[in-house]
Amino acid sequence: MSSTLVKLENVCKSFPLGNGASLEVLKNINLLVEEGESIAIMGPSGCGKSSLLNVIGTLDSVDSGVVQIDGESLQGGSADFFAEMRRGKIGFVFQKHHLLPQLTAFENILLPTLKSKDDFTVKALELLEKVGLTDRKDHRPGQLSGGECQRVALCRALINSPKLLLADEPTGALDSQAAGVLSKLLLKLNEDEGLTIITVTHSAEFAGNMAKTYKLSDCSLKEV
Ligand SMILES: Nc1ncnc2c1ncn2[C@@H]1O[C@H](COP(=O)(O)OP(=O)(O)OP(=O)(O)O)[C@@H](O)[C@H]1O
Ligand SMILES: [Mg+2]
Repeated sequence: MSSTLVKLENVCKSFPLGNGASLEVLKNINLLVEEGESIAIMGPSGCGKSSLLNVIGTLDSVDSGVVQIDGESLQGGSADFFAEMRRGKIGFVFQKHHLLPQLTAFENILLPTLKSKDDFTVKALELLEKVGLTDRKDHRPGQLSGGECQRVALCRALINSPKLLLADEPTGALDSQAAGVLSKLLLKLNEDEGLTIITVTHSAEFAGNMAKTYKLSDCSLKEV
């Protein structure tokens, strides 16, 4: 039996422009994502895809509407509640990988576990093996290629075994071969481990690997 992992109901969001006016980016967005689903979100640059992912990932609030993650409403949650939600349930791969340059790949992957008493060393090594970077574990981001950094960022997003992976253009900076490798990896995690994936992409090929594709444009989200 499947259960709903992400539920958005009539979500609206705008940003103040500083001159009294505001820029509307999300208008009455409705979205249901079941556990184990994989979906791609496409749409023109600046239409609000990252903003939508930030809202789902508890990194930003909405003006109105309901956001529920794993049955829990985000409305009125404290910073601690959001941090716990992210630590426990959500992995985020950002548009730019956001790895810390002074830390090695291995240390970057372990960052989200620093508050935990458990030892994540074995898990981190397993993830590095899965993405084919075992021999690069002690290298810093500056010594890795863009595709390798994105794979390390994926390991960091997965270290806490999240139910939900949010990936913002994870293949955006990669050539088609590296994009294909990352795409296959995500597909395998979805199929073998039931990881729920919401990914933003400009690539129709990458989107085609996900079970559903949505298009965001003119502040509205529609399945295509
Ligand atoms: N904090 C903010 N304050 C003001 N405007 C913002 C803010 N964040 C985003 N915007 C604006 O909201 C719109 C949507 O931005 P967003 O980053 O969500 O677009 P996107 O669809 O992810 O674009 P891209 O494909 O280029 O990454 C853009 O016009 C952007 O300039
Ligand atoms: Mg974006």
